[in-house]
Amino acid sequence: MKKIKNLILKKNKSKIVCLTAYSYNISKILDEHCDLILVGDSLGSVLYNYSSTKEVTLDTMIEHSKSVRKGIKKSIMVVDMPFGTYKTKSLALKNAKLILKKTKCDAVKLEGGEKILSIIKDLIKNKIPVMGHLGILPQTEKKFTFKGKQKNESKRIIKDAKLLESAGVFSIVLECVEGNLSKKITNLIDIPTIGIGSSNHCDGQVLVTDDLLGLNQTNFKFVKKYVDLNKIINKSILNYRLDVKSKKFPKSKQSFFKKI
Ligand code: KIV
Repeated sequence: MKKIKNLILKKNKSKIVCLTAYSYNISKILDEHCDLILVGDSLGSVLYNYSSTKEVTLDTMIEHSKSVRKGIKKSIMVVDMPFGTYKTKSLALKNAKLILKKTKCDAVKLEGGEKILSIIKDLIKNKIPVMGHLGILPQTEKKFTFKGKQKNESKRIIKDAKLLESAGVFSIVLECVEGNLSKKITNLIDIPTIGIGSSNHCDGQVLVTDDLLGLNQTNFKFVKKYVDLNKIINKSILNYRLDVKSKKFPKSKQSFFKKI
């Protein structure tokens, strides 16, 4: 709880750094640099090549989260509740408790505003910290275009953000929300907004780590690729292949021979 209180205190003081992790090796590195690490259900498309996050199961989220947990010492760890796991209050509570118990995460994230408000309120009443998620909602979205183009849509997102804040969420992810709308929401609420494709007006930023590392072959406008790991890995594997074929690997220093 203290970590979450400290995160809220960062609003208007210091930008909040968040990234996704799905395994130990990455979470260990991220923990040195991030305030918050999200085990996102984006792992469905990123790791499993599913066409939608709808296919991600609770078991899959829990297993990856257990791996991520091992790499985290200081950051806040948030786990996405996958599609279908928070349809009703009782189902959400049962599954959120299971996620917290098995993964020792600090909080869960649910997609949506007014429609799932009573479910979120119930989780918070039961002392489960919740992060909100507005804008593009990948679990239910039909069209992946940025949000806030129309007045009605903007009004609804503003209303949802206020409702989520009053329900007690500690932060809200804004996914692909128009820049001026993100600014307005960020100024209207007292909890941090974390943007992905929602301009630098948000209190913090999150990206899918595989995207910024260039492991994913995606080309989203809002991603900045800091390195092309795909290219680097490809070259390394090719060199390995050439070494094996030409018998340059393994050398005697990589082998075990009995002294005669
Ligand atoms: O699933 C995910 O990785 C997310 C981020 C994109 C915010 O929800």
